[in-house]
Amino acid sequence: MRGGSVGNYNESYYIGPSILNQNSLKSDIMGLLQVKHKLGVILFVIILGCKTKHEKIPRDHSLNSEHSHSHSHYPEHDAVAAHKLMFPSQVPDRVIANLTADPAHSLAVNWRTDRRIEAGFIEIAVATDGPEFLLKDVRRIEAKSEIFENQNRREPLVKAIYHSAVVNSLQPKTTYVYRVGDGKENSDGWSEWFQYTTASDISGDPFSFIYFGDAQNNVKSLWSRVIRNSYRKFPEVNFMLHAGDLINDRDANLEWGEWFYAGSFIHATVPSMMTPGNHEYRDGVLSSLWRPQFTLPENGPADYLSETCYAVDYQDMKLISIDAEGFDEIMESRELQVQWLDSVLRTNTKKWTTITMHYPIYSTAKGRDNKELREALKPLIDKYKVDLVLQGHDHTYARGYADNEGKGLTLVDDAGTVYAVSVSGPKMYESQDQDWMVQRGEYTQLFQIITVTKDTIKYEAYTPIGNLYDAFDLIKKDGKKQLINRVPSSPIRLKKDFLEEDKK
Ligand SMILES: [Fe+2]
Repeated sequence: MRGGSVGNYNESYYIGPSILNQNSLKSDIMGLLQVKHKLGVILFVIILGCKTKHEKIPRDHSLNSEHSHSHSHYPEHDAVAAHKLMFPSQVPDRVIANLTADPAHSLAVNWRTDRRIEAGFIEIAVATDGPEFLLKDVRRIEAKSEIFENQNRREPLVKAIYHSAVVNSLQPKTTYVYRVGDGKENSDGWSEWFQYTTASDISGDPFSFIYFGDAQNNVKSLWSRVIRNSYRKFPEVNFMLHAGDLINDRDANLEWGEWFYAGSFIHATVPSMMTPGNHEYRDGVLSSLWRPQFTLPENGPADYLSETCYAVDYQDMKLISIDAEGFDEIMESRELQVQWLDSVLRTNTKKWTTITMHYPIYSTAKGRDNKELREALKPLIDKYKVDLVLQGHDHTYARGYADNEGKGLTLVDDAGTVYAVSVSGPKMYESQDQDWMVQRGEYTQLFQIITVTKDTIKYEAYTPIGNLYDAFDLIKKDGKKQLINRVPSSPIRLKKDFLEEDKK
């Protein structure tokens, strides 16, 4: 009986009534037709409708959905175990908010659907304590929607529509709710309402952001806990900054799917800025997904550097993304970016300046030196007294400054630029102790929370379980800049301490 009763119930529910209905329906119909033809025809139609519904239940074809079918309409789906991360549906996925050049007054959102959703819309309102924002003025803006398909090596063809919307005329320091979707009333083709806060326009107001080095590999498996615990530790964070190599293989739809899955609603709630790494490029070509799936500022030096080399003004900070791979590969790009950086820094009126780029000015390992990059950019970094340079690529951690020369001071007067290299994903290299470093580490996944108040930048590097690995304060007051190193006393972590083969 055990289990059998369930089986019998299912059998009689799905098959029994279906057969009985067919027989009884036939006799009913014949009888009715003999009595009154007109009424019979009407009933025939109604009953057939009922019969059709009954037949649909056991086959579960009633929902007009890919997920309710035992097979897929897209043969390529069946070959990919992880297709949910790869293929779009009618419901928006990969929803991400990006920083615009003016994040106090505007918001950029991108998302993806399948090709049945030809037009995308964003709806936005000032957030309220309850659902009453739905009763007030909800702005609706049509997105730019572009047909997109790509097929990466060893992956099936993915057809999608990418939607992007920029909402202007927002109020500073205001929490909004927004959703994205197909624009239809009472449709399932909408995202949830995400909550999002614009930047302040008042000088001196505090803000914070989280800086990530390379995620790159096993992003779903091993990077997800890093971004999730960074948000858990600092849910009030204003934006996130990714210093390149978000994924490993430029156009791999599955890898990008993993990156969006790992961040999930965080990507839609906390805006991001990202600079491309060498893995967003292959053969000198940027990922075809970069521009469709992100909306980053287009204020760089050339069209082909649009959304890779750009500047953002976030409250009292100028944030600059240098396209380091473009710089490395193309001489013209190098010259354009240097000239552009010079003009941006020369006209910069912000109190704080941060540059992010994938390749480090100072590497953490000998033999990974980026000499051309350093020789071209360091004179400008020095001349304009840039505060922070946030980088990736070396799959280790190091933080320091150019004239440290092994002094290891806790308090540095007349401080210059602080350089950091970090890694958030699981791919780990080794490093060597060098003069510029104040703190160093290997085999450690990290995120950095950077809090900016009126006169101070507070920087803290954390492991995903919340252990502090490095910290410093930069204090800028009365024309002077002071650095206070706050390195924890715990021993530095080295790869050889964890892996037998690296001990030699
Ligand atoms: Fe890299």
